[in-house]
Amino acid sequence: MKRVFNFSAGPSMLPEVVLQKAAAEMLDYQGTGQSVMEMSHRSKPYEAIINGAEALVREVLGVSDDYHVLFLQGGASFQFHMLPLNFMTINKKADFTLTGQWAQKAVEAASKLGTVNIVGSSKDKKWSYLPEIVGADKDADYFHICNNNTIEGTQYHSIPDVGNVPLIGDASSGILSEPMDVNKFAVLYAGAQKNLGPSGVTLVIIRKDMVDRIPAGLPTMLDFRTHIEAKSMYNTPPCYAIYILKLVLEWVKDMGRDTLFAHNAEKAELLYNFLDNSNFFYSPVEKSVRSLMNIPFITRVTDADAADAINKKFVKEAEALGLVNLAGHRSVGGMRASIYNAMPLEGVKALVAFMKEFEAKNA
Ligand SMILES: Cc1ncc(COP(=O)(O)O)c(C=O)c1O
Repeated sequence: MKRVFNFSAGPSMLPEVVLQKAAAEMLDYQGTGQSVMEMSHRSKPYEAIINGAEALVREVLGVSDDYHVLFLQGGASFQFHMLPLNFMTINKKADFTLTGQWAQKAVEAASKLGTVNIVGSSKDKKWSYLPEIVGADKDADYFHICNNNTIEGTQYHSIPDVGNVPLIGDASSGILSEPMDVNKFAVLYAGAQKNLGPSGVTLVIIRKDMVDRIPAGLPTMLDFRTHIEAKSMYNTPPCYAIYILKLVLEWVKDMGRDTLFAHNAEKAELLYNFLDNSNFFYSPVEKSVRSLMNIPFITRVTDADAADAINKKFVKEAEALGLVNLAGHRSVGGMRASIYNAMPLEGVKALVAFMKEFEAKNA
């Protein structure tokens, strides 16, 4: 068996020990004689899995009892709609920073339900920085940020101070990548398929006082109260995805969060250092806000056709070496290395070694 280093932006690599454990438990989960996939979600063993997953979310992410922890479906994209439905409800307006394509999607969804105020945008420079916040409204129902911009490669390394306005964060690609006080958020949400597990489950953490803002009369499935009251089991949850998320969090807990964060910093530094010293490749992102997880890079080739050809050559040759999914997002071009928590340091070392060689041959 040969496993590749997968630099995909998501779904992405999972820790090998997690996959091994899941494989070992595939046919017979802890003596139950069945796979987790076959189990009733109302059974005792499954109850222990989902409760264990919630307990680990609280422990590993440092989520206090002031919050509800939900495992929902529909991805982060579904939350773009569900959040304004539930929380853009008092003054029917919310502030957003516009920092990339996912933030843009969140804005578009919320705009259908109320007034969106863009209080900072980095669109003018191809999303390569994080904008200053100007004109924030103290009466906004909430303030929304995209914590890590997966496509563009910027990350809020410190949480903006938005006063008493509830802060909502899309942490799909940034969750558990570096120290972050989740208790500064009123709501934090993340699709699992980057740092938490496989696709199919979305983690949503909601501060309990936010529940009072939910209007009456929402369709049952779209009302957060339904899922809070049913402990994420109003309908059949994504059972297997939650089970893998639990195994991933056990892996983080065993390693220690600080060790994980130190690994992440080391991996990102290795790649950024190479990029900053290369005469051929570079990072288009402002240094202070570079993402630890998603690292876009481009070549200094200026002719568009030649640049396109060299990018394709790079991606193809990398793939032949087992370094896969390095093409940049289709809207951006260039290359992008997503180095989520499960990417080993060896993967980044192998990438940098290949990039050095490629530069020597093609510069
Ligand atoms: C920051 C961010 N938000 C939202 C999404 C959309 O997530 P989903 O496909 O789970 O709806 C993504 C997906 O990559 C993302 O990176």
